[in-house]
Amino acid sequence: MQTKILRSDRESLEEITSISADIWQKGGLVAFPTETVYGLGANGLSAVSSRKIYEAKGRPSDNPLILHIGEKSQLYPLVLSVSEKTEKLIDAFWPGPLTIILKKSQIVPDAVSGGLDTVAVRMPSHPLANALLKVCRLPIAAPSANLSGRPSPTTPEHVIEDMNGRIDAIICDGSVGIGVESTIVDMTGEIPMILRPGHITKAMVEEVIGEVLIDPAVTRENIIHHTVELSHPKAPGMKYRHYAPKAPVTVVYGPEEKVIEAIVAKASEHTGILTVDEHMNRFPRGVCVSSGTRKDPDSVARGLFKALRAFDGLNVTEIFAEDFTDVDEGGAVMNRLLKAAGGNYRRYDEI
Ligand code: TXA
Ligand code: MG
Repeated sequence: MQTKILRSDRESLEEITSISADIWQKGGLVAFPTETVYGLGANGLSAVSSRKIYEAKGRPSDNPLILHIGEKSQLYPLVLSVSEKTEKLIDAFWPGPLTIILKKSQIVPDAVSGGLDTVAVRMPSHPLANALLKVCRLPIAAPSANLSGRPSPTTPEHVIEDMNGRIDAIICDGSVGIGVESTIVDMTGEIPMILRPGHITKAMVEEVIGEVLIDPAVTRENIIHHTVELSHPKAPGMKYRHYAPKAPVTVVYGPEEKVIEAIVAKASEHTGILTVDEHMNRFPRGVCVSSGTRKDPDSVARGLFKALRAFDGLNVTEIFAEDFTDVDEGGAVMNRLLKAAGGNYRRYDEI
């Protein structure tokens, strides 16, 4: 398939939105930017169109998709009811990087919900995504626009690398702002539960709606120890190995200087080292890639997937990664990093 490449610095917004809406209406696939990561979109009311997403990504079909909308009014036909608490969440965080799980209505195909009786919905704040969704007036089913198992795409180059020739069009609009996928909150239980950590933290959600739980399966402890819950996360997608570069990853923890010393002692020329700007010249051997600066945790989130992808082109046989805090937004970063490492988390004196 010939993939149309649409560039926001070359084509007008009107051209991009009308070409994309046309493809979606005809049942095709368009990759587009959001504020979190690039998404791979299809008409979310059509089972046939949505199934094409699984094929293009090589994704297991029990893993449900998020429906993206451009206006709040588009939510109501998709779900059975919207509680007062959910309304509060929407008013506080939409448009923005928060996905809400609600009981689904009849019009949501099983191909989108993965056979569950619930559906995930989010309203992106990215201006181009928002314009697309408003023009096409369809709920757009969109997972991250990567091949299944690879790190989510945060630049147009990542999307082209994974999807060129597999989908109808790719909209290129530079690097995304956040870099980790949206926070998912399940509003169908008695107490709301975070199923995937993201830029919007538990504390931020609690400030708006009170007590919130976090799915134990996505916490640091359970990812490291592969405890029983890990095989039963409530968001089906969280059970798959994810975000992983080709070389095995070990996350090293301990006091910062000890971690650096241990990696220096262990590294050969073919060792990949995932580090931060301030440590780039601390490793005499090995191939260093920085994900950002510790002074700005947002920069680490923004750069993480790009850094993980970079190692695949660098011919490394193993990767050591410095540990990050899992407080606040760091929780989203550590969740992705530990998944990339398959839970391989070692103290500095154990590597
Ligand atoms: O930031 C994002 O959310 C990005 C951009 C493109 O919007 N999208 C994204 O989609 O990350 P995806 O498909 O890569 O991840 C969706 C996650 C999966 O872990 C899936 O299992 C979970 O959402 N999910 C979807 N519907 C669900 C449901 N009804 N119940 C529980 N989990 C659900
Ligand atoms: Mg994904």
